[in-house]
Amino acid sequence: MKKWFAVIGKPIAHSLSPYMHSAWLKEQHIDASYIPILVEEEKLQDAVNSLKLLGCSGWNVTVPYKEAIIPYLDEIDQSARGIGAVNTVVKTEDGRFVGYNTDGLGFIESLGPIRQTNHILIVGAGGAARGIVHAFKQLGFSHIAIANRTFANAKRLVEELQLGQAITLEEAEDTLAQFDIIIHTTPQGMKNSTATLPIQLNQIKEHAIVADIVYNPLVTPFLEEAKKYNVRTVNGLGMLVHQGAIAFSYWNGVKPNTEQMVERLTEQLGG
Ligand code: ATR
Repeated sequence: MKKWFAVIGKPIAHSLSPYMHSAWLKEQHIDASYIPILVEEEKLQDAVNSLKLLGCSGWNVTVPYKEAIIPYLDEIDQSARGIGAVNTVVKTEDGRFVGYNTDGLGFIESLGPIRQTNHILIVGAGGAARGIVHAFKQLGFSHIAIANRTFANAKRLVEELQLGQAITLEEAEDTLAQFDIIIHTTPQGMKNSTATLPIQLNQIKEHAIVADIVYNPLVTPFLEEAKKYNVRTVNGLGMLVHQGAIAFSYWNGVKPNTEQMVERLTEQLGG
């Protein structure tokens, strides 16, 4: 049977994953398809059973099912267990379904070459921040600070993941000059949300990297502010592409071309 892959979520129509994976499958001469599937909340278990029954070789999981899918899988890899969320399911040779999380690692790959000794500031302490902090931990980074509007949430994340230090947004602003990489993970500045920057960047260090997990818009208000200081900025498109590339390699055993895909998607999104 021809192999096929999918992405499940709600909403799903605007997902860029079908475009991305279909292009990679073609480029790698793999005879398979990748389709988006809209799943209603009360139908998640039925949907997963159907994917298994119909021979799906692997699928991505997006909002709002990354946590809810866990009980329906046979095994959860360390990355997904640590984060508490699955974004990729892989069918093993013996027919078991294993959940992984490639978001955090994908994000870090999208930053390009960085060093374990770099000092990293993460702004926000939600689910996305959790994935990124966990991946930094897996890669052996230790100089991590998490700054959040609700300090208690930053503290909880630090305690749960046993890494880094929780600070307030004011402390982050005052000590900004010590950070090499600043990562904005709050939904502030996404399309249709009003933008108030969680921290000011006037103390930013020369040669810092400023990243945002959002790619719509391509230049978020946080990145727009960072550009004023002539530092390198990275938007969330790289994270989307790299998390997808890691999933693709789990399914197909080859790593697809990421740089070209970032360029193509940037063009599609009008950048
Ligand atoms: P996700 O799971 O996508 O990361 P989330 O769980 O809703 O999203 O997390 C949102 C994060 O953005 C939280 O850290 C939140 O701060 P609180 O813990 O104080 O809620 C932060 N956030 C959301 N809106 C914000 C705003 N207007 N200003 C500053 N931080 C904000």
